[in-house]
Amino acid sequence: HSRSFTIEASSSSSTNIVEPEGIKITSVPTKPIEGQKTGTSGLRKKVKVFMEENYLSNWIQSLFNSLPPEDYKNGVLVLGGDGRYFNREASQIIIKIAAGNGVGKILVGRDGIMSTPAVSAANGGFIMSASHNPGGPEYDWGIKFNYNSGQPAPESITDKIYGNTLSISEIKMAEIPDVDLSRTGVTKYGNFTVEVVDPVSDYLELMESVFDFRLIKSLLARSDFRFAFDAMHAVTGAYAKPIFVDKLGASPDSISNGVPLEDFGHGHPDPNLTYAKDLVNTMYGENGPDFGAASDGDGDRNMILGKKFFVTPSDSVAIIAANAQEAIPYFQGGPKGLARSMPTSGALDRVAEKSGLKFFEVPTGWKFFGNLMDVGKLSICGEESFGTGSDHIREKDGIWAVLAWLSIIAYRNKDKKPGENLVSVSDVVKQHWATYGRNFFSRYDYEECASEGANKMIEYLRGLASKSKAGEKYGNYVLQFADDFSYTDPVDGSVASKQGVRFVFTDGSRIIFRLSGTGSAGATVRVYIEQFEPDASKHDMDAQVALKPLIDLALSVSKLKDFTGREKPTVIT
Ligand code: G6P
Ligand code: ZN
Repeated sequence: HSRSFTIEASSSSSTNIVEPEGIKITSVPTKPIEGQKTGTSGLRKKVKVFMEENYLSNWIQSLFNSLPPEDYKNGVLVLGGDGRYFNREASQIIIKIAAGNGVGKILVGRDGIMSTPAVSAANGGFIMSASHNPGGPEYDWGIKFNYNSGQPAPESITDKIYGNTLSISEIKMAEIPDVDLSRTGVTKYGNFTVEVVDPVSDYLELMESVFDFRLIKSLLARSDFRFAFDAMHAVTGAYAKPIFVDKLGASPDSISNGVPLEDFGHGHPDPNLTYAKDLVNTMYGENGPDFGAASDGDGDRNMILGKKFFVTPSDSVAIIAANAQEAIPYFQGGPKGLARSMPTSGALDRVAEKSGLKFFEVPTGWKFFGNLMDVGKLSICGEESFGTGSDHIREKDGIWAVLAWLSIIAYRNKDKKPGENLVSVSDVVKQHWATYGRNFFSRYDYEECASEGANKMIEYLRGLASKSKAGEKYGNYVLQFADDFSYTDPVDGSVASKQGVRFVFTDGSRIIFRLSGTGSAGATVRVYIEQFEPDASKHDMDAQVALKPLIDLALSVSKLKDFTGREKPTVIT
């Protein structure tokens, strides 16, 4: 098959070139724009910045300038988004530049909607989302690019894109009309095709191949089990009804905030105890549901709740891993290996140890799991930051986590007769603690600190860690080691250093300090505190109470108040 259309690379002034297939491609002159460096999860800025002339176009064109042409010429790219403000305009811009650069076909979700996990499942492309950040004219917008296996573009590519944003001089735009994204179907312009697809069907098919839908259906059909899902007016609103209601038989009123809105209904679409307050209130209220879950803006994060019970993400991944083989057909042969990010609690380590599974500790950031999955060393992984997932795709997956938990509860109750007490979410967690011990865990966030103080604090802690010696006393704790976490990828040998300063004590307790890589203003200091408790008689303690001595130690060791001026964290999870 011949290439559909190309343009001479050297043209600098605006020119129209009519290609044999009949598409006109305009070379739009442009100038570099500062500050288009992609962070952990793509380029994220205030939407007003993206709406400035050529801001988005420059980045998209720079991306095409960074890829080997054989990766996209005549190829298929997926385009999805979380439904936030500006996605409609951005979709049209991206489609035109893709066509201008010789992409063969764009598969776009209806109304520009497709979750991050669904884009990953479709082997990658563009995702228009700022994840859990608020949306609307005053708030955030973002764009990320996932590469062919469906995983976030590696740094080698994002660095190249950044380099190209600093030297860009032209944008190749196809002169095609705006595409009607509201209806599924195929439109052709010469050799370029846009197909508007239902964003759910392929993803749903994948979920049906992973889970036993009949098992889950039997749980949701019970009159003594009540399910609640909060889509937070974000992208999983488009998925919740077709999957939970239409396919699995949940009652329609079990879904709240189920319509994606451009401003997420003025919400902050982050599924945690602070921002998913409505769901939390429902679950902790009188006669609340038995199972509650929420997902974030683009559908990759999740929170799992039981009746008056919160499952920490660190426990969640450990419990999914411990139950996967029996409850989830995809893991029938047993998971290949387990992994967590460094600050995530050690609950998963204990599951790996007990079941003799390979185990990996990687830096914060989902991209570190992909290589391990590609070589078949890893099946189930998670992060304390409300991310849980598996090698069915290369992103964390909110709906997957909910289905995994429903599978576990369904499996545990499959023989229960009407009238018998069901095994609840909290029963499952407490039984897990009784078997493996409990890793008490909490994270303190100090958002929007002045960068200077925050950086100095990390420098200070780095120094402290490098001078420390095993056996030193820190209050009642004895140091096993302290370091600045560094990771060598076992697959490609790449090294990620300075990933967080950790103090690990002889009883397995840890205090960890990092600066967030996803904030948009100032510096966010994260302090992670963990303590292992084997004694089941202490497992019912409140985490904040159990961890109080260690939290105090973390604050004094780091001199956090002196460095940041902060008395209190802004968020505690
Ligand atoms: C995103 C990433 C995660 C990461 C989280 C927090 O959701 O995909 O991998 O754990 O942000 O990152 P941060 O650097 O802000 O702690
Ligand atoms: Zn997200």
